Amino acid sequence: MPKTMSPRDLFVEELSDVLTAERTVAKMLPQMQRQASDKKLVGRIKEHVKETQQQIKNVEQVFQQLGTRPKRKPCPGIEGIRSEFEEVSQEDGGTPELRDLHLLGPAARTEHYEIAAYEGLVTMAKAMGESKAANLLEKNLKQEQAMLRDGKTVARRLAGKVVKAEGDAPKTQARTRGSTRSRSGRGRSRTRSSRR
Ligand SMILES: [Fe+2]
Ligand SMILES: [Fe+2]
Repeated sequence: MPKTMSPRDLFVEELSDVLTAERTVAKMLPQMQRQASDKKLVGRIKEHVKETQQQIKNVEQVFQQLGTRPKRKPCPGIEGIRSEFEEVSQEDGGTPELRDLHLLGPAARTEHYEIAAYEGLVTMAKAMGESKAANLLEKNLKQEQAMLRDGKTVARRLAGKVVKAEGDAPKTQARTRGSTRSRSGRGRSRTRSSRR
């Protein structure tokens, strides 16, 4: 029969998971940075690389505070996102803006994953009365939330740009097609409506 899990065991389990995730993210982000083109995006990823290194130290510090060591455990969630990122990396991605938007997919998923992890950890740390741990984990949470927000801002700008550059054409075509159809099909549509 498996050993019954205590709240503290659960916390250590989740903390180990996030440490593995952060270490994976620390490898993934510099690759993303190299592949991105938009100046603001490149700069923000670069900043988040540094933040991630500090986040790893913060998590390690929480382990020290608890007087325990991280469990060596894989993190299938972040591995899935990493696989998606690798797929994106291998694709020939259109314009630089479109490519950046493509990269922002796994980037945003990463932040969502981290946010979910830290939200759970902060809740547990507070419930266990581990206020120092809660503060450190909250710092990480805030950085992930800020990174997600900034990524969204870049994505909105780039999406507007690519749709304007590319999307205007189909709209014009559709309008032209529509007007041509209505011109040529005027008689037919009249017939159809007169039948009603
Ligand atoms: Fe992180
Ligand atoms: Fe992050």
